Amino acid sequence: MEWTIQPASRIDAVSYEIRGTLAKRARELEQLGHEILALNIGNPGAFGFRTPETMREAVVRNLQRAEPYGHQMGIFPAREAVAMHFQDRGLTETRYHDVVIGNGVSELVDLSLRALIEPGDEVLIPSPDYPLWSASVVLNGGQPVYYPCPPEHAFEPDLDALVKAITPKTRALVVINPNNPTGAVYSKQTLQALADMAKAHRLVLLADEIYEGIGYDNIDMVPLSTLVDDAVCLTFGGLSKVYRACGYRIGWAVLSGAIDHATDYWAAIEKLAALRLSANMPGQWAVQTALGGHQSIQELVATGGRLFQARQAVIESVDASRHLSLVTPQGALYAFPCIQAIDQAHRQGAPLPFDDQAFAETLLEKKHILVVPGSSFNFPNPAHFRVTLLPQPDVLKSAFVAIDEVLSDWLD
Ligand SMILES: Cc1ncc(COP(=O)(O)O)c(C=O)c1O
Repeated sequence: MEWTIQPASRIDAVSYEIRGTLAKRARELEQLGHEILALNIGNPGAFGFRTPETMREAVVRNLQRAEPYGHQMGIFPAREAVAMHFQDRGLTETRYHDVVIGNGVSELVDLSLRALIEPGDEVLIPSPDYPLWSASVVLNGGQPVYYPCPPEHAFEPDLDALVKAITPKTRALVVINPNNPTGAVYSKQTLQALADMAKAHRLVLLADEIYEGIGYDNIDMVPLSTLVDDAVCLTFGGLSKVYRACGYRIGWAVLSGAIDHATDYWAAIEKLAALRLSANMPGQWAVQTALGGHQSIQELVATGGRLFQARQAVIESVDASRHLSLVTPQGALYAFPCIQAIDQAHRQGAPLPFDDQAFAETLLEKKHILVVPGSSFNFPNPAHFRVTLLPQPDVLKSAFVAIDEVLSDWLD
């Protein structure tokens, strides 16, 4: 008799296309001997970026101490270093016991939502989003409610729409700044409005600031926690991006704001952290070294730096294209270009010439370039795609020549 193990039905309700069917097809093509340019993942180590040497040394020197489990909330030097980093930002009250270290921000996103939401609770999530947030809300029985961050607002949140989306079931407001996938860096006014909204509606602010420190043209990046007055705020950061140590799997979450109102919530997070014993121990020893002293990310994002030049290559390529437009990314590791012909048809309610998914599939089959369709980020406009800024600038330039060839074949 035929039989199969049925996975839990809730898995069908979530997706993570960044590593989904297109990425699988790319692997098949690779196995057939094709060289694939993978622009789908913000994984610095895959593009030749190294973790700073001092961090590697900190791990090696402490390997022996990293053999046992550690405290569920993280080792003291790591928690203390994160607390001091927050004190430097102006949150002078932050102490090590307001910090939890996790296996990447990814684990802490899940844990912080699991500790918070009851079935049917609503969580406000930006559209486009980083899809882990939506997936974690769904897997924990909650309901994602999207607030638009449209290109005509330079991908900043539409605050009127956001207020209208709040209901008595809304528990939390997710803010991703600098933003993945759009590269938007929100203004202080916008962030203040978000903090005020959280206060007025007793929402927990979940501030994903994993790209803090990756900003271009000296853009002012304001940590949301510094604007929060009488609301509870959890800020997420980690070693993956700014410190190019994705594989260390180290992230942190910091509690700030009206923390007296969050004692039980924080205890629930600690209980969940205890259930998984401890975060990756070797990686935790790199945190103190990472956060102190010179920040090497600065050279990469400054004028002339590798990430700056890569962003420049994308801006120039889009300028030279007859088919694309771009809201210039101000931070993070991505650009989110728009295919104008699709955008126009979508806005006019006309039949689409093709959509972002078909475009990404064709680009992969014809040019062996892997991008992520915009709709993978819970974005209703089918005209966008995301590329990472991590390749060398000339590699990005040739990728955009190939992208334009595919679009010209289709549209001319
Ligand atoms: C916005 C955002 N949050 C969280 C993560 C997860 O990071 P980590 O490697 O710390 O799990 C990513 C990874 O790309 C991200 O882009």
